[in-house]
Amino acid sequence: MHVPAPDAPILFFDSGLGGLTVLGPTRALLPTAPIVYAADYAGLPYGQKSEAELAARVPALLGRLVERYQPRLAVIACNTASTIALAHVRAALDLPIVGTVPAIKPAAEMTKSGVVGVLGTEATVRQPYVDDLGTRFARGKTVLRHGSPGLVTGAEAKLRGEAIDPDVITRAIAGLRDQHGGDTMDVIVLACTHFPLLQEELQAAAGPDVRLIDGAAGIARRIAHLTKGQEWPDRYAPGIAVFTRSKDRPPPPLAALAPYGIGVIETI
Ligand code: DGL
Repeated sequence: MHVPAPDAPILFFDSGLGGLTVLGPTRALLPTAPIVYAADYAGLPYGQKSEAELAARVPALLGRLVERYQPRLAVIACNTASTIALAHVRAALDLPIVGTVPAIKPAAEMTKSGVVGVLGTEATVRQPYVDDLGTRFARGKTVLRHGSPGLVTGAEAKLRGEAIDPDVITRAIAGLRDQHGGDTMDVIVLACTHFPLLQEELQAAAGPDVRLIDGAAGIARRIAHLTKGQEWPDRYAPGIAVFTRSKDRPPPPLAALAPYGIGVIETI
């Protein structure tokens, strides 16, 4: 079995800054883990790309990142990329890959009304993978879905300290609630890693009787489990964030990333 060097990082991958919501709880469990956080700004938003485009783009980019940073494990901290490209990435790369799956199973266990909402990107909510999760784990329950690209833009803006359009939040919740049965919905799955960045705003719009859940804590536990027994550096060192070059979207200021333990910004 391959034993990783103590300084081999964990690679987090997303289209943008959403994957930071997975990095946060992972840092809490593995405080000295070296981190590389990769954001495909040249490809953002993934939610509006085709399946074929993502199935080709994500494994190719991850391949370049793995070659450059030699991680011990890669986390696709993006529901859109995971639901479409996880199998392609696993087939292409020879290292453990952790994906992000919409938290439909815990939501189905939690709902009292039997109506669950899934808020994701447009690409995620149309995936057969999501149908399959509903069939396997939410039998007899109603699973409503809504795709909101505006929330991705809003989450990116919030992290940069820019204003968010409040209508985007209201429309996202209404997109679920206005569907048949939506008035009794009591759990919403945040099935895009960007959305927990807007947790407070979404909770305020959904009201106190609706619980919002996401998969980040579970993914962090999975990463800790898969790396159990491996060596880590003795001391914490700030991580690297790497952005694909985009002329329209420069990387955010380092101050926005520093709370997540990032100390260096690179481009690829
Ligand atoms: N953060 C991504 C997800 O979890 C997608 C955002 C986007 O690029 O549309 O689905």
